[in-house]
Amino acid sequence: MKPNEVRQKFLTFFESKGHKIMPSSSLVSDDDSSVLFTTAGMQQFKPYYLGKKNATEDFGSLSTTSSQKCIRTSDIEEVGDASHLTFFEMLGNFSFGGYFKEEAIKYAYEFIVGELGLDIDYVTVFMGDKNVPFDNESYDIWKNFVPEEKIKKFGKEDNFWGPTGKEGPCGPTTEIYVKGVEVWNIVFNEYYCRPKSDQPGADSDEQVLENLPTSGVDTGMGLERLSMMVSKTPTIFETDLFGNIIKEIEKVSGVSYFESGYEKVFRIIADHIRSSVFILSDGVAPSNSERGYILRRLIRRLVRHMKILNIESSFMLKVAKIVIESYKDAYPDLVKKEDEIISELKAEEERFEKTLKEGLKQFEKFSIHGISGHDAFILFSTYGFPFEETLEVAREKGIKVDEAGFREEFKRHQEVSRAGMEKKFKGGLSGTSPEETRLHTATHLLHQALREVLGLHVAQKGSNITPERLRFDFSHSEKMTPEELKKVEDIVNERINEKLSVTVEDMTPDEAKEKGAIGIFGDKYEDKVKVYSVSGFSKEICGGPHVQNTSELGHFKIKKEEATSAGVRRIKAVLE
Ligand code: ALA
Repeated sequence: MKPNEVRQKFLTFFESKGHKIMPSSSLVSDDDSSVLFTTAGMQQFKPYYLGKKNATEDFGSLSTTSSQKCIRTSDIEEVGDASHLTFFEMLGNFSFGGYFKEEAIKYAYEFIVGELGLDIDYVTVFMGDKNVPFDNESYDIWKNFVPEEKIKKFGKEDNFWGPTGKEGPCGPTTEIYVKGVEVWNIVFNEYYCRPKSDQPGADSDEQVLENLPTSGVDTGMGLERLSMMVSKTPTIFETDLFGNIIKEIEKVSGVSYFESGYEKVFRIIADHIRSSVFILSDGVAPSNSERGYILRRLIRRLVRHMKILNIESSFMLKVAKIVIESYKDAYPDLVKKEDEIISELKAEEERFEKTLKEGLKQFEKFSIHGISGHDAFILFSTYGFPFEETLEVAREKGIKVDEAGFREEFKRHQEVSRAGMEKKFKGGLSGTSPEETRLHTATHLLHQALREVLGLHVAQKGSNITPERLRFDFSHSEKMTPEELKKVEDIVNERINEKLSVTVEDMTPDEAKEKGAIGIFGDKYEDKVKVYSVSGFSKEICGGPHVQNTSELGHFKIKKEEATSAGVRRIKAVLE
């Protein structure tokens, strides 16, 4: 059975059980504005779980089914193994106060075993914790279908799902495993989950659960993984979903997928082109802001991997057309957007080539003395020059690169920026774009300027940077006056115009305190901290990265000043 047939079989099966077949929502739908992309089938149905909309009125049924386009960039580092992807299709069936555990489990069993003829290795149910009881109902229902030793109990990490974004429906899950791989996640939405506190710095894991007015079912099964089981291929990349793409890569590169040792490169190309095509088809263009930035990273990573196989850029356009062709029946929008998709891919590839050229110039300057870890990091963070590119060019020119030094610097930066960025980008793609690097440095200037204008009680309470803007929370109890805001802006812009150099030193936290560095002293830092200094103006503990000179920043502008909670103000600012 081909993947297209598996998808159709799923939808038809649930239709026969009274579900209304619904089209996939867009990847960038605003149903859930706290996540960048659609990551689950249930998102378009959130209001129905909450009782804000009536399913019977809208669908003529209390249950629906869909095949939903999803992007999950948290898995980007895993792409290339047997089962991880950035774009995937999620098959789902949903009940909004209609059927519950009994039918949900029965349908799932019937579909996997009866319709597809697969063997279930084992299933899992929620073991319970201090807030939510053991799901003995699911446990007992499963006993009707599988031997008891095949029913495992797991905790919150594995068997509790949701919410997407900051808040929403959530609940215990039961999961089905086939050949050691999780194929189906069945969620029983019994609760509404919200964060305990919106305060900056609050522990995002602290959640409050409230009972939902009615219980719901939300399931998700990756079509790619399921197809791999059905077609009994070793990985998802040998299924028909990727077959044509892999063949095309073999053809244009002259490299064999199975024999060359380049399998991972093939898979990354295949995954990223599919994701890029789908993201473009939903109207996102490459840019330096949130969604556009992720798309940009995907396309650039794709181009870089094409270079490894010496594939010319026209290939990308050809394969984009193959993707559109093979998905056009399930997702008709692809055809309507074909011209846009192709021209955006082409334009982004050209922009990337330009970036590479500029990075190369800087590379030449650094390379006189060999490339240090710091040089490689600056090339990466300030010039957008991928590290792999640095290695490759260095190899060609016979120049040494301090690889370990780069990785150390990269890791140090990630540790600090990860916590914050993870929430937005869901890991993996956490950014160190030139824009963000500049905003990092601007944040230090802003922090010091606020202390000069408002007083030394000003301390950082939170910071968040996207390629577009900085956001800085600080202790201060009154609204800032227009005069104060103007003064702060002026100080920052003066420091920019003075072209001050930015330097970094490693020291112990005690030394840093002695030298008057500001910033967060806490045990999350190890025995050494990095102190970034803007010559003669600010000294702050920070993981970086930063620009080398304030002249790189441009013009600083405050866009908004507001309260976030008692005693904490928030500034949003940009560099123009
Ligand atoms: N919403 C559930 C998931 O994404 C089914 O796994």
